[in-house]
Amino acid sequence: MDSVLNFLFHLTELIRTTRLVEISLWVTDWPFAIWLQSHFYAIPGFQTLHILSIAVLFGSTLMLNLRVLGLSGRDQTLAATFARYQPWIWGALACLVASGIVLLISEPVRNMVNSVFWLKMCALLATVIVSLWFQHAVRSRMELWEVSPAGHASIRAGAVLLIVLWLVVMVGGRWIAYAPN
Ligand code: HEM
Repeated sequence: MDSVLNFLFHLTELIRTTRLVEISLWVTDWPFAIWLQSHFYAIPGFQTLHILSIAVLFGSTLMLNLRVLGLSGRDQTLAATFARYQPWIWGALACLVASGIVLLISEPVRNMVNSVFWLKMCALLATVIVSLWFQHAVRSRMELWEVSPAGHASIRAGAVLLIVLWLVVMVGGRWIAYAPN
């Protein structure tokens, strides 16, 4: 555990040597940042939106990926499950990016000069890339799926990997507040 703390601490030290410090101080003076700081309902409101969007995104991901794994919703075709949940996943992600950017602006130094925040962004990028591959792979094998659901090992592995990756992003988000500095 100590080595993780050391790594995060040194990463934050490294971030302190970059222009991110100047940029975060500059964002602090933006009128929108000042507005967010001076209205007591603003930050909790966007945090609530962020958390509700996580519930929609992760709930929809579980419904779709557990169907791919054959663990739930087997009375529905994969095509129907995909059509139902995919728009919710991307819609919730759009809300998360928008509310996340607002949260970032609300406390720029705390978030930008923070190793865990940047690790979360890397994990998010990896998750989006895997999601795009997964979406494409599921769509292109959708017809065959109903005939031979036993195959498709790489898609099943992708379904598990995506659940794990979203968990990593969520833990990263919560952990931003506790980054060692
Ligand atoms: C570009 C996209 C995103 C940005 C810029 C962003 C940014 C942020 C920021 C600045 C915070 C506040 C941290 C703090 O002050 O302690 C936060 C919290 C959080 N984020 Fe994100 N976020 C993004 C996407 C996501 C996604 C996709 C997820 C998960 C699926 C996520 C999960 C969380 C969680 C769990 C928290 C903690 C909420 C709380 O406990 O109040 N974020 N995010």
